[in-house]
Amino acid sequence: MDPFESFKAMQKKNWAYFAPLEMQTTPCAARLVKHAAIRAGHHVLDVCCGTGVVSVTAARIGARVTGLDLTPELLQRARENAAIADLEIDWHEGDVEKLPFADASIDAVLSQFGHIFAPRPEVAIAEMLRVLKPGGTIAFSTWPPELFVGRMFALTAGYLPAPPPGVAPPPHWGDPNIVRQRLGGAVKDILFDRATMLVFALSPAHHRAVSERSAGPLVRLVAELSASDPAKLAEFRRQYDALAGEYFEDNIIRQDYLMTRATKI
Ligand SMILES: C[S@@+](CC[C@H](N)C(=O)[O-])C[C@H]1O[C@@H](n2cnc3c(N)ncnc32)[C@H](O)[C@@H]1O
Repeated sequence: MDPFESFKAMQKKNWAYFAPLEMQTTPCAARLVKHAAIRAGHHVLDVCCGTGVVSVTAARIGARVTGLDLTPELLQRARENAAIADLEIDWHEGDVEKLPFADASIDAVLSQFGHIFAPRPEVAIAEMLRVLKPGGTIAFSTWPPELFVGRMFALTAGYLPAPPPGVAPPPHWGDPNIVRQRLGGAVKDILFDRATMLVFALSPAHHRAVSERSAGPLVRLVAELSASDPAKLAEFRRQYDALAGEYFEDNIIRQDYLMTRATKI
């Protein structure tokens, strides 16, 4: 199998347990929908939609929403979330690197901590811009490399086998200079903002224990190391807790992130 396709098949398996973390991404969804200035009647595509927190938020204000994700278990929860809110949303199982939508057919393409996991950033962004209408909005939330989640992903990656050549680290999407470069000449009026996800935790180790059960890269790391190298896993856990401790105060882990918005030319 093509190395990128195997990489995505592995991602699909590891993201299947993400649903409990939707409570963490729910407030951020409202921030992103506001940052993107979504209005009633817009046709919004939420790529890497997970359990649909951005999709449902946009649909609640009257947007016509399509949500797409690689992982069927999360789409199942997304369907339930839409039904609870009594909303019609068009869900698709698919890959952000190969969107099943026509050129220039969407008013706004959103991604919350999502397309950063596509192995080839240049392919994902080209697809997101291809389906967007000229004058349409692209907006996404991403993790900066120098802050908690970015550092935690780098720590985790150091304990996993190297990805295939050409796979970019997800936190590169949290660097505004790289974002500008990747959006290139296809957009105008790039606007950045910062926001904070507050994650409740009883200790840094509690935060790790929850993440190990639900966050794709950590699910994978625990599955790979718990049988083969428990000492290495223990060292990872020690380093994780020390890192999380730097951001832990008053039973909250502070996870700052970057929001980007731009208009397709
Ligand atoms: C951190 S979760 C974010 C989910 C959701 N956007 C939210 O904010 O709650 C990352 C999501 O990206 C999805 N994903 C990863 N690679 C993908 C790809 N190549 N195409 C589509 N979805 C992908 C995963 O299945 C997962 O739902």
